[in-house]
Amino acid sequence: MSSLAGSIEKSETIVILDFGSQYAQLIARRVRDSGVYSVLARPDVSADELKEINVKGLIFTGGPSSVYEEGAPKCRAEILDLGVPILGICYGMQISAHLMGSKVDSGESREYGRTALRITEPDGLLKNIPTETTVWMSHGDQVRTLGDDFVPLAATPTCPIAAVKHKTRPFYGVQFHPEVTHTPHGGEIFTNFLFDICQCNGLWKMSSFVDAVVADVQSQVGPDEKVICGLSGGVDSSVVAAMLHKAVGDRLECIFVDNGLLRMNEVELVESTFKDHFKLNLTTVRAADEFLGKLAGVAEPQEKRRIIGHTFIDMFKAEAGHIENARYLAQGTLYPDVIESGHSLAGTAANIKLHHNVGGLPEQLGFELIEPLRDLFKDEVRQVGELLGLPEHLVWRHPFPGPGLAVRCLGEVTLEKLDILRRADNIFLEEIVANNLYRQTSQTFAVILPVQSVGVMGDGRTYENVVALRSVDTKDFMTADWSRIPYDILATVSNRIINEVRGVNRVVYDISSKPPATIEWE
Ligand code: XMP
Repeated sequence: MSSLAGSIEKSETIVILDFGSQYAQLIARRVRDSGVYSVLARPDVSADELKEINVKGLIFTGGPSSVYEEGAPKCRAEILDLGVPILGICYGMQISAHLMGSKVDSGESREYGRTALRITEPDGLLKNIPTETTVWMSHGDQVRTLGDDFVPLAATPTCPIAAVKHKTRPFYGVQFHPEVTHTPHGGEIFTNFLFDICQCNGLWKMSSFVDAVVADVQSQVGPDEKVICGLSGGVDSSVVAAMLHKAVGDRLECIFVDNGLLRMNEVELVESTFKDHFKLNLTTVRAADEFLGKLAGVAEPQEKRRIIGHTFIDMFKAEAGHIENARYLAQGTLYPDVIESGHSLAGTAANIKLHHNVGGLPEQLGFELIEPLRDLFKDEVRQVGELLGLPEHLVWRHPFPGPGLAVRCLGEVTLEKLDILRRADNIFLEEIVANNLYRQTSQTFAVILPVQSVGVMGDGRTYENVVALRSVDTKDFMTADWSRIPYDILATVSNRIINEVRGVNRVVYDISSKPPATIEWE
């Protein structure tokens, strides 16, 4: 399932070779939003892997490397001979032009930002685009000397070869970035590539994706075999469970580990949704004592994550061991999880935090992995959730980290701090929902700080806990801005927390963006 083939075998597909671009996901979205399925792949994907699927075209992304650099990512030369149309963007154009006999060099000046583009040859890719237009550039190197087989299509003042096509192969390259909104005619360039050059029909819909995954799982899982799915209460694992339930029904066994680090009423919500509504097999492992016992006295964030990760695996393993004929494990890994854990397709992303939901489990348990959401982005997962009939409050639930409230209870985790945190968090969320801000914000929560602050209540001095409120707006959770929540709502939240939650005398609002801050405080 995690190889290129599988559920997508039959849909016409555009494969995006990710050379380490920050825009790879954006390109994938542009293509899917046009009704053509797209997947991201490593730059060294083989021609045989591509032949297994109905690949209609390839897009090579940009990337931070220089083609002559040692270890610079390269595609295999055989890919260029497949006869499948290719669009190379920025580094993607440079590397392919280089492999086909052109010369790439550092430009006299770097080009970053909006630039005027003059189209000299409006052929194919640049059809129906105004001759003078604006594009977004972000490069140091550029193609300096074209091989005899290429035709230049457009130029900017400092980049004479800003777009090219090959004379005999279906290859096009652009030095600029058509995928960003700062290139106003970028959408038309994708349309020209997908529909004129690759001859896609544009009939792909998210429901086709669901049907394909369901059919695929049905053919993969034998009649006596079972699939295990770890539910966390979040949208990703809920969508995976609903999808797998549709595919294999009673042969799906869900395990929900209550680690004592969940939000208020979370266990009840998960149980009522999945047991009562979906009627799927669900076992709740009540393991709060186990987790909190192991976390006692531990303040270091990565150590807390490690303990929670290991304890989770132990608990899950013990429970999964009771299920007979279990061969598969279904996981709700998404593309951003893959990237942020340093498992990028191009292998270059830095490991920012140790997420425990990527890797680990399957190797430990000896299961085969089913990851139906691996190529999707969060908003697409929500679309799938709606298609599968999951309730709105689950589909639109803000994400919650695997280590749960432990990373929001800074320093040592104790029952008392967890209780304060849960109640403060619940008040914040109640007010956000009541003011119709839940869907406008991406992740909203409270954090309990490891400091005490002096306050005055009545006539007495207090020395109590500080709660920080955090709310961010983001599309991909890789960058985020703090939410501009109106002051009067923040004032209500602060008053309510100080009045209703004993042990808190100060509330602060976090106004840091990511980067440089992260969304979670630990
Ligand atoms: P950061 O704090 O890295 O968070 O900006 C980005 C997104 O990831 C979530 N997050 C985690 N999720 N295990 C998870 O499953 C983790 O260890 C973890 N740490 C952060 C975070 O809530 C946000 O949505």
